Formats: sequence, structure tokens, C-alpha cells
Amino acid sequence: MRFRLIPLIFLVCFSSLPANATPQPNPAARTAEAEITAKVQALLARMTLSEKIGQLNFPSLAFPFEAQLAEVRQGRVGNMLNVVNPDHLKAFKEAAAASRLKVPMLFAIDAIHAFRITFPVPIAWAATWNPPLAERAAEAIATETAQNGINLTFAPMIDISRDPRWGRVIEGAGEDPFLGAAFAAARVKGYRAGGLATSAKHFVGYGAPEGGRDYNGAQISDAELFDRYLPPFQAAIAAGSETIMASFNTVNGVPVTANRPLITDVLKERLGFPGLVMSDFVAITELINHGVADDLADAARKALHAGIDLDMASGAYARTLEAGVADGRVATAEIDAAVRRVLAVKYRMGLFPDSPVGVRTRASPMAESDVRTRAREVARESFVLLKNDGAALPIAPQSGTVALIGAAALSTNDHSWYGPAGLTKPATETLRAALEARVGSGQKLLFAEAFADPCGLSFKNKDEAIATAKAADLIVLALSEDCTFSGEGTSRVDLGLSGVQGELFDALAELGKPLVLVIETGRPLAIEEVAAKASAVLIAWHPGTEGRTALAEILAGAIAPSGKLPMTFPRSVGQIPIAYNDLPTSRPAKGDRYTTGYIDEPWTPLYPFGHGLSYTTFAYSGLGLSAPDMTRNGRIEVRVDVTNTGSRAGQEVVQLYTRQLVAERSRPVRELKGFEKISLAPGTRRTVRFWLNARDLAYHDDEGRPVIEPGTFRLFVGGSSAAELAGSFEITE
Ligand code: GLC
Repeated sequence: MRFRLIPLIFLVCFSSLPANATPQPNPAARTAEAEITAKVQALLARMTLSEKIGQLNFPSLAFPFEAQLAEVRQGRVGNMLNVVNPDHLKAFKEAAAASRLKVPMLFAIDAIHAFRITFPVPIAWAATWNPPLAERAAEAIATETAQNGINLTFAPMIDISRDPRWGRVIEGAGEDPFLGAAFAAARVKGYRAGGLATSAKHFVGYGAPEGGRDYNGAQISDAELFDRYLPPFQAAIAAGSETIMASFNTVNGVPVTANRPLITDVLKERLGFPGLVMSDFVAITELINHGVADDLADAARKALHAGIDLDMASGAYARTLEAGVADGRVATAEIDAAVRRVLAVKYRMGLFPDSPVGVRTRASPMAESDVRTRAREVARESFVLLKNDGAALPIAPQSGTVALIGAAALSTNDHSWYGPAGLTKPATETLRAALEARVGSGQKLLFAEAFADPCGLSFKNKDEAIATAKAADLIVLALSEDCTFSGEGTSRVDLGLSGVQGELFDALAELGKPLVLVIETGRPLAIEEVAAKASAVLIAWHPGTEGRTALAEILAGAIAPSGKLPMTFPRSVGQIPIAYNDLPTSRPAKGDRYTTGYIDEPWTPLYPFGHGLSYTTFAYSGLGLSAPDMTRNGRIEVRVDVTNTGSRAGQEVVQLYTRQLVAERSRPVRELKGFEKISLAPGTRRTVRFWLNARDLAYHDDEGRPVIEPGTFRLFVGGSSAAELAGSFEITE
């Protein structure tokens, strides 16, 4: 699997492409699009103002919903979220069919990583560094969801973030725009293949809140916007995402929901996004909280003018736009522009009977066993082995007695934060049961719950846990970040182990036995002291329905871990925001006092972006370039030999980073520009090749224009962002 992002320069280059540039579809798609445009225009001409506004209205299901059914019949509600029950969906579809113009509805839920079977949380998908796997996962989730009658998911979340204090990093793909774009494309393709339309979110900068505080403002220069935060949205657009969700936050003081320069000028015109833009939940009303709107009518006017096509759950459009048109404060043309986008999306989704494009819902449901298999595959490849001193893992057959400690080993919490309520929870194996089934015949597995809850907030029996550990040769301590501690509205100032988990860890560490730490978490944690004392540290993220089964396979050695960090693990919260791709500064960090760093802690992370160990080892050699230089339109092939120098098979993520030494702006010390996940048998070697295009090395100026500057570049290849095998090349005029 080889990944190169579609070069941004072709998608966002302003200097050389017309303002409304979009990736040019093939002739058949162009014909269908022309047909859709004509059909939309014909339908729009028949609509009353009330019916038009109804198409911009996107309420959440509210019980009793008879009133909403009536509004659908009257054409005043054209879309709904959180309708999950098939009978309810049927009722709303029939109501729409009974309306005057019979416009089909969008039905959306947050099928982020779950419908019935819960997959690992999305940050775990990114930790696989295997986008095709993520595509298959998204397809499976979408198939379950679409079979239920839903046609839109509020996914993928593609916010780049360098701040693990922000709890929503759980939903994304981490800190890097290149990796984030690869997973954005994969997830959009997967959800769409499974029959759902997608909503790439949250546009834009939501992952950069000051202080890591959810909903807080972000200060982002245009150059940084194009270099860091837009690439995943570019990739999502290129992959065909029908909708994009605007974010709650301000960018440089202006709420995105009222930000015409971002929503219309950048997203719709300069990036050429042809789909619809929805607000986030009641975000239009919240323009009043932001202090940019006097009242609901003012908020609605400003959001519509900014380019927000769908009003999610605030009712502002439904309650104020008609009067706004009547008093001349709202332009019908702006309403028509929004309705055109909504209707076009519904045609592209095949929702209309006369759509030139068929619906993508699969003819038959995917077998649960297939969905589970895909969930297990993602979990297996998502676990990140941060440390493994003395080969504490895998659990060796000769470890006669193993003590599994911690209530997390009994947990079936699948953290399906957005999984729909009301569905029966599928059978989920606990880590204890899965490990009991895998320990060797000569081995004994002891167990002690220790805590009163899976997240270790209080003790059930600390002494019993310590006594159990004393009787063992190897201790496996299963811990979990507080189960409610990740997701929306969960910003934290303390990223240590929650509850009394750290207290028990310290007590067990004093026993002087091999101590394996397994942590379920939705974000990077600041665990320097704990990691120093553990023999091995395995990050399991929140692994979902099949996750503990997969975890037992890894612990027992049936499968070798292959995950790599999609986000840096800091030593402490004080280092945050922290990422691998920082600028060099006037005094590059090297630990000395008068250089970029701290006097009370090393400046380096605990574990860097891209880090992750296997049960074998890999050596890199033979770095070679097809040429010492290239022109601005040229490309160079980079090749490297990777050898499995250990005694068992394993997977390695070969990573390619570059650094531009001199430019008009200071450039990051490293930037990911390619990766490939390979499998190698012990003692075998493989040559991995990457094409490096000059246009992939562009950065953006303050007007968001891509710039390729001639000069010297360094490149680094290895198994993490700390790769040491290096080379150089030139971009000539
Ligand atoms: C929430 C989230 C968004 C989600 C939406 C609908 O506030 O910000 O990600 O899709 O509301 O549930």
C-alpha cells in the first residue's frame, strides 16, 4: 500500500486555476451533473418560499414527533437527524412522499465508528497507518447504517490537532495533514461505498482551540490554514464527500458559522466544493453567544450569507427567513443558492426517482461475521507498543503464572459515544475471557479486579490485587482512561492515569516483577513516570466490540503489534501543544539553556509521532535517489531497503519525511511526505520505493498560494518521525 496525497497545488492553487476550480469529473459524471443542474433548477422554480426554507431546515427528532410529521407533509422540514428506529424512518419517508413536491429527506446520525458493531475509535484507525483498512471499516459501518434506512453520516471527523487536552482527538486522525488527508479520503470512500453520504467535519480549525478548551477560538494564519488544516478537507472533497459541516469555533475572531470568507470564498469557490455546508448542532443560534448576532433573525441572516446551507437543529432558518425576505433583509437569491446545493446533493445521492445517479445502498446487508472481522482487523493493527523492555511481550509460554489485574479486563465498554441508542448490544468478549482462552497449557492466569469500575476511579480491593501480583511471574495491568473522558466537551488539564490507577501501578511496580501496562484511551496521555517503571506499555485506544479479543491475540503473541502513533505522546501537559513538525526557531532545541525548550523538563516528547514497536526489529539501509535534483515539475524516486532483523514476522510502517532547509518562510524540521505498511518474514529484505514530486513540497504564502522554491531539501526514512537514515536533493529552477 503506498500513499501519496493528491498534490494540493492542483486542488488549491490559486495563481494558476480559475476561482471555481474543482477536480474535473469524467465525461459521464459531467453529463449527470448537467442533468442534475437542470432538474434542480426546474424543481426550484416550482417551490414556494416556505418549501425552499423547509429544505434548509434540519431538526433533530423530537418526541412526540407527530408535529414534525405534519411539518414534513407541509414541506417545512426537509431533513432530520437522529431518526434511528426503522418505523420512525418509514413514517417520515411516507410523510415526505405525501408532501406537495415529494422531495426526499436526508436522514443523518453520527455513525462515527459504530452502528451495531462498534469499531475501535477513529484515532485507532489512524494508528493502523493503513487507510485501506479504514476504508473497509467505514464501508462496514455504513452498510449497517444504510440498511437501517439512514442515508447520511456525520463523519468523517478530520480535524487536525496537536493538543490532546482536547477530548475530540478521539474522533480524528491526529496531528499530521498528510496522514490526516489519507484517512479522510479513505473514510469518505468507505462510508460512500457502504451506501451513506458523508459529512466531512468540522470545517475548520476546530482541533486548534486555544488552551485545548473545546469550542474555544483558534488563531490560524492563511498559510497555516492551507498547509495544515485544509489538506484533509481537500482529500475529502476529492473523494466525493457530499456535505461538509462547519465548526463551532471562531477563526481569528470570526465564528466559522458566520464566516463568508472561509465558507464561501475559500471552501465553495476557491476549493471548488460542490456539495452542501451544514452548521453544527444549534451553531446558528450560538452566533448570539459569540456576540456577532443580535437575535435569531440576525444569526440566520449572517449564517445564510456566510454560505451555511443547512441549519442543524436551531430552527433559526425555519423561524425567521420568511419574515426576513418579507422585510427585505434576506435576499431570496441566497435562499435559492442554498436550496440548489441541498437539492443537488439529494440528486447526487440518488434519492429522487428521476435522479441520473442511482442510490448506493447495498442490495443486501453485510453478514455480522464480516463486519466483526473488519472490526477485529482494525483493532489488531491499531495497538501501539510504545515500550517493550526485556521482551516482556508477548507473554512467553514459559511465564508460568500471569496475573491479569484491573477491572478494565472485564469491560465491554465499547465507547460507542455516538452509536445509536435502542440497538441491542452485540456480544463482546472481555480481555479476561479472551486471555484465558489463549494462555498456554502449562500456564496459569490469575485475575484480580482491583477497581470498583473499569476506569479505576476507586478501589474494590487493592490488597487482593497486590497479593495476586505477588504470586505471578508476569503482571499485566489493564487500565483505562476514564470512560467518559474523551469526546465532545471533555477537555482535560491532567492527562495522567485517572482515579486511583496510578496508585495501584506504583504499588505493583515496587514488586520488581515484569510489569506490562495496557491502557485503553481516546487520546495521548502524559505518562512519563509510569512508562519509566513499566516493562512494556501497549496503547489499546478504545478498541470496540472485537477489541479485547484482538488485544489478547497481541498479548499472547498470535499477532504482532504494528500500530504507530498518529499523535505525539507528551512527557507532560506543560509541553502541549506539541507535534513533530515544528519550526526550527532561532535557537533550535537541543537541551541547552538558551535554546528552544524548558529548564525543568526535556523538550523532546515521551514518544514521537510515528513511533511504534513490533515483536521483531527492522533495519533500514541502501537509501537511494533516482537523481540528485529535480525541477519544479519534476519528481524523484526514493528507495530504501528494509530488513526484518528479528526472529518473527512483522509489519512495519516505512515513513518518508522531508525538510526544506531554506525558504521565504521558516519550514518545519520534518514533514511526512509518504508512508507504506509492509509485512516481512524474519530475515527477509524488501526495497520500498516512493515517488517524491516537487509539487508535493509546496508550502503556502499568506494569500494561501502554493509556493515551490528551489533549494536544498533533506529527507529522512525510517519507522518514526525520529528516522535517522538521511539523504539530500535539490529542487532547481
Ligand atoms: C455535535 C458535534 C458534531 C455532531 C453533531 C450532531 O455537537 O459537534 O460532530 O455530528 O453535534 O450530533
